[in-house]
Amino acid sequence: MIDNYNRKIKHIRFSITSKCQYSCLYCDREGYSRTNELTVEEITKLCKILAEVLNVTRIKFTGGEPLCREEIAQIIQNVSDLQLYKDISMTTNGLLLLEKAEELYKAGLNRINVSLASLQPEVYKKIYGSDSLKTVLKGLQKAKEVGFNPIKLNFVLMKGINDNELEDLINFCAKNGFVLQLIELHKVSDAVGRNGDFYEKYHLDVKPIIEELESRADKIIVRGSMQNRKVFTLPNSAVIETITPSHEFCMGCTKLRVGCDGNLFGCLFRSDLGKNIKGALRNHHSLSKYEHIVKQVVDSREPYY
Ligand code: 5AD
Repeated sequence: MIDNYNRKIKHIRFSITSKCQYSCLYCDREGYSRTNELTVEEITKLCKILAEVLNVTRIKFTGGEPLCREEIAQIIQNVSDLQLYKDISMTTNGLLLLEKAEELYKAGLNRINVSLASLQPEVYKKIYGSDSLKTVLKGLQKAKEVGFNPIKLNFVLMKGINDNELEDLINFCAKNGFVLQLIELHKVSDAVGRNGDFYEKYHLDVKPIIEELESRADKIIVRGSMQNRKVFTLPNSAVIETITPSHEFCMGCTKLRVGCDGNLFGCLFRSDLGKNIKGALRNHHSLSKYEHIVKQVVDSREPYY
């Protein structure tokens, strides 16, 4: 399905819970809702419908923290059993990976993104409100052992907090074969935008860093189907993806999002334009009726920047 700006929907970002053990300084409360979570059956049904009406084969589960959802392995197994998705991934804080990596991999999850904005325990605690760096690092090794590939690390850059750790993170990734996702702080979250001068204080323009990476890189590719993200390979074999909110970024957006309550929406920054599909899921409509609902949401997509 194609939106009014000629952008094809190629993947789904599906929040399955608002629950989270962390309280990240910059949290954008993606997919957040105070109302009821979709049931496992509703999630499975919606994944089937979305694959069929959008013709997509890629899906990422998010939260809150998706591993806080007790039935997570069942959800992955059900979605995998649909045999409609060839790429099932997850964004996680990593706290429960040590415990759950193996069953998740067996259930059909094939790759993960783990938040890791610092390798210093004290800084980690300050950013995430959780003193759990050690556990997360063990979880990452476990995830690698059981076969997740690639494993990407989400590194949200913050001035005066972790901007001195970029080289450490690059080396850590090179050593372990992880991919670094260098993410520019955005302010479209209450935690950042409505918190006094938080954004001015901590936001760091990633552009000069990208220019530096450009001069160091052996190889640079632009992921045209992924918000035009630039991917750098450095001489030490570290792979770095850059995610910066910008016009090109928005114009290259190919995602449809689902909130944990069944709100379908087309842009992280405009969940207010969404349509809740939970009621319709209970009514056993024909595929064309669901297609109509999804089309309305896709038609509401506009580049934010
Ligand atoms: N700015 C940039 N990235 C953010 N994330 C969450 N909030 C923000 C923000 N304000 C990213 C983090 C996390 C992922 C789920 O979303 O990288 O790992």
